[in-house]
Amino acid sequence: MAQPILVVEQLRKNFGGVVVLDGVSLAVERGRIHGVIGPNGAGKTTLFNIINGVYTATSGSITFKGEAITGRRVTDIARRGLGRTFQVARVFNELTLLENMLVPTVPQRMAHRAAVEKARHLLSLAGLSRLEHSPAAEISGGQKKLLEFMRTLMAEPELILLDEPFGGVNPALVDRLTELVLETNAKDGRTFLLISHEMPSVMRLCGDVTVLAAGRTIARGTPAQVREDPAVIEAYLGH
Ligand SMILES: Nc1ncnc2c1ncn2[C@@H]1O[C@H](COP(=O)(O)OP(=O)(O)OP(=O)(O)O)[C@@H](O)[C@H]1O
Ligand SMILES: [Mg+2]
Repeated sequence: MAQPILVVEQLRKNFGGVVVLDGVSLAVERGRIHGVIGPNGAGKTTLFNIINGVYTATSGSITFKGEAITGRRVTDIARRGLGRTFQVARVFNELTLLENMLVPTVPQRMAHRAAVEKARHLLSLAGLSRLEHSPAAEISGGQKKLLEFMRTLMAEPELILLDEPFGGVNPALVDRLTELVLETNAKDGRTFLLISHEMPSVMRLCGDVTVLAAGRTIARGTPAQVREDPAVIEAYLGH
């Protein structure tokens, strides 16, 4: 079998005395859309923060494309081809949508004209063209999530981590974002690791799912398998 694009092994994270991740392991196969689900406070966002270098793990290891990235810096990990979005979209409110799209191209030193062309193409795919000269402050939270996702594509990442892309987003935008993820996966072969509470979206998008509860991996399998898993049902009911 091909080597997974991302391998997380026995990850632990303590904040002060509090154990937030208690031995989390998962493997993401290349070309897949892999879901991460689990109750509030399970440690999902913390897992992402460690994978992309925002936090350092207390122990455990992360391997991306066969190389150890444990403890490396955010910028180094991004340069290796790992992009991410945040649970609450992080965009620059005072910049226009087009300017937001161009932010990742500054350190890449991409030729300005090519960058603008690419940015405008991605904005048009997202249906945001008519807003390209509006400040991001003027768009909805859902549109900001869409913008943030398109911005990660500027750097052409091989693996994209999406943290709750559908949370608080109106149904029309959920559909658009879902289509864009599916297309980016199918056409460009990008791999996704996706945190979501929206089970219908997980069922639709993900071939593999890992379930976290209280900082541990409690189940893995297809969406249909984990949905029926007694440990998963218990974790959700108990919450
Ligand atoms: N920087 C931090 N310092 C201390 N505790 C933290 C920190 N970040 C997260 N935690 C704690 O770690 C636990 C897991 O948080 P995390 O945000 O990873 O959960 P989550 O699964 O993403 O939850 P949600 O579904 O609500 O987004 C929570 O109890 C949270 O309070
Ligand atoms: Mg979270």
